[in-house]
Amino acid sequence: MQYGYFDDDAREYVITRPDTPYPWINYLGSEDFFGLFSNTSGGYCFYRDARMLRLTRYRYNNVPADAGGRYFYLRDVNDSSHGADVWSPSWMPMKSKLDRYECRHGMGYSRIFSSRNGLAFSQVSFVPLRDTCEIHKITLTNESNIDKNIDMFSFVEFCLWNANDDMTNFQRNFSIGEVEVVTAEEPQSGEGSRQVRSCIYHKTEYRERRNHYAVWAVNVPITGFDTDRQSFLGLYNGFDHPDVVFKGKSNNSIASGWAPVGSHHIKVRLSPGEAKTFVFVLGYCENPQDQKWEKQGVISKKPANDLLEKYGSPEAANKALGALNDYWENLLKRFTVEAEDKKMARMAGVWNQYQCMVTFNMSRSASYFESGIGRGMGFRDSNQDLLGFVHLVPQRARARILDIAATQFPDGSAYHQYQPLTKRGNNEIGSGFNDDPLWLICGVAAYIKETGDYSILDEKVPFDNDEKLADTLFIHLKRSFDFTVNNKGPHGLPLIGRADWNDCLNLNCFSSTPGESFQTTANFESGVAESVLIAAIFAYVGPDYAEICRRTNRADEAEYAEKQIAVMIETVNQHGWDGSWFVRAYDAYGKKIGSRECEDGKIFIESNGFAVMAGIGIEDGRAARALDSVKEHLDSKYGIVLLQPAYKDYHLELGEVSSYPPGYKENAGIFCHNNPWVTIAETRLGRGSRAFETYAKICPSYREDDSDLRRMEPYVYAQMVAGKDAPRHGEAKNSWLTGTAAWTFVSISQFILGVRPMFDGLLVDPCIPSDMKWFNVTRHFRGADYRIAVDNNAGVEKGVKSITVDGKLHDGNVLPVFGDGKTHHIIVTMG
Ligand code: GLC
Ligand code: GLC
Repeated sequence: MQYGYFDDDAREYVITRPDTPYPWINYLGSEDFFGLFSNTSGGYCFYRDARMLRLTRYRYNNVPADAGGRYFYLRDVNDSSHGADVWSPSWMPMKSKLDRYECRHGMGYSRIFSSRNGLAFSQVSFVPLRDTCEIHKITLTNESNIDKNIDMFSFVEFCLWNANDDMTNFQRNFSIGEVEVVTAEEPQSGEGSRQVRSCIYHKTEYRERRNHYAVWAVNVPITGFDTDRQSFLGLYNGFDHPDVVFKGKSNNSIASGWAPVGSHHIKVRLSPGEAKTFVFVLGYCENPQDQKWEKQGVISKKPANDLLEKYGSPEAANKALGALNDYWENLLKRFTVEAEDKKMARMAGVWNQYQCMVTFNMSRSASYFESGIGRGMGFRDSNQDLLGFVHLVPQRARARILDIAATQFPDGSAYHQYQPLTKRGNNEIGSGFNDDPLWLICGVAAYIKETGDYSILDEKVPFDNDEKLADTLFIHLKRSFDFTVNNKGPHGLPLIGRADWNDCLNLNCFSSTPGESFQTTANFESGVAESVLIAAIFAYVGPDYAEICRRTNRADEAEYAEKQIAVMIETVNQHGWDGSWFVRAYDAYGKKIGSRECEDGKIFIESNGFAVMAGIGIEDGRAARALDSVKEHLDSKYGIVLLQPAYKDYHLELGEVSSYPPGYKENAGIFCHNNPWVTIAETRLGRGSRAFETYAKICPSYREDDSDLRRMEPYVYAQMVAGKDAPRHGEAKNSWLTGTAAWTFVSISQFILGVRPMFDGLLVDPCIPSDMKWFNVTRHFRGADYRIAVDNNAGVEKGVKSITVDGKLHDGNVLPVFGDGKTHHIIVTMG
């Protein structure tokens, strides 16, 4: 069943009923201020860091689901024989019966439309570019033929900034909440165009160690307000039954401790056909330390006034929304797709890239599965995410690379995560994930291929955030490369450390204590456990490293690197091949993992996908054999599972992977992140139909009509879909913040459609199903636009017969770097 549809022209997903199988969310915000926004106006917002500077409270794993957001309650005074009709226009929290409901999630904004008894409600919510606030523009329209008297109440619940503390430290928190309220008078005639605003300020902890507060404002005079949760709701009521709203009268409560909230009461009178619009702003404001106060105990309103001044009218809000639309228009112009297959075209051209930008902004911090209080930015995650957004925001990708590299240790290893606010490595997790260093090479190579900017290699970057240890980014890459070379085990394969890409393959952690972290417990330093996956990653990114060396006059280093890569490939051939597929790893006793010799976990996806991506075994047929084995043993209707057979029991020597019930997460779930590795690998063999099949199976738009089973948003990838061993096979979890976004974008744009940035130009080398007769891609690349039309009337899966560039026959299939700001027309004939 479907719960909505794609409006491709508007680049919106339109949700047509509010009771989606899970809250279907969107992200507001582009730079410093972000909001999570569900289809029923649930969610929360924060400034920069979802843990440390959270403006509004959100309770994860709540009952009912998704309770808490920016709520508006309507109390229609005339339209009921039994007193007033109170309802929630966004459906939640009251689950009101609506005559009409629609939520449109677009690029950085969301809209909700609803109506009941002739009163129409429309909400558009977004974070304007460059400012630190959410705007909620609300319009009420009287669609009936009688006059309407409406009480509108706004409602947000403030978080006391540190979201972790906010949910735990009640002995303190119940006594610190503070607010200020400034209401406005209606402007008098003759007063000119004085802006009106009614503001609730949340200033908890401002008196001592904070220099920031939140403001919740509306651009009209109000009849009343509340700032104390209990006064507004009633102690034993949920959000669905606020006393104040049912009574139709605010208490004008001033919070003192307990739970500060913000609620405005606005009386709206509408004659038939009449509409009124209100602009609500929820903002983050900061004052210089010495200008915090207006007078003792009264906060300086200057930053709030400056902010609200800008968004004081519907016109101003519309203008800001227009600017946001332009911003996205310009971003998405950089890569567009036209094809007969709309499901693919809309994902590759719009939603997949949109999700990549969200992973850029959020890393793995705040979603409806990531609570925003746990994880920092991952070293490997961020480097991989970069593959999906480097073409959109190359300058910001550059800065990101330098931030990440600064958390590397002098020996090439790296902090597994770092904190976005401080940009410092996270000591709690520490280091020792031995694949981490190689992803830096992967990210930097992608950046250079996209931009041609080799100067990044000369940037001085600290090691371990210590300026005294700074060296060039190139040296960072060398340390990354050498880390693998210098840390090999008994078979000559890379030591796995705490884990490689698969966080749950914890071969040096023999944990039998409940609650112990599998990732940070290393109580069995075997010095033996090895990873074939890291070997394959080395063989994949190594050649880019060598190429970078050669292109920057480091011929000796290039030669050295190539030798090391050859040695590694030879080692994989000797110790990494199991007869029909690639081995996954060797455990702490030197026993194979991912081998027919094993009882469970005989075959894994990761080493097979990556080895073939790296080109291992292509010439002698083992690559094809390995991918055939993947298909035979790991494939399912909904994607390729991570391993088979699933581990039935816990294995002390394997760690977390065997802790999950069969079919979930790394224990034979469809862990979508690694599926595109197989897709890419298939394109290396020229098997376009199979490549596309693996792409489409995990692509959410193909499962739109199967939403009751899949449950997650049909416009974004999820980290995991339950595998064939799970009772809920096909059900997705953990949507939005996953490396799946970047890798699927790489697989579809660079390897299936085949438009791939190279060091010297833009390669066009499609690998598609034979029945895909044509497609068009426009690609912005190093200062020029490439309009590429691919003709596959020949019905092949791979192979370019001829290319014309601006009407002239072109030799080979690498398009030159024009860099001339112009649009170039390219016709590619496959055959
Ligand atoms: C999570 C982690 C990622 C890891 C993956 C597989 O998505 O963020 O770093 O590679 O799980 O375990
Ligand atoms: C858990 C998750 C895995 C994640 C890891 C690190 O092991 O299963 O996906 O990467 O935690 O936080």
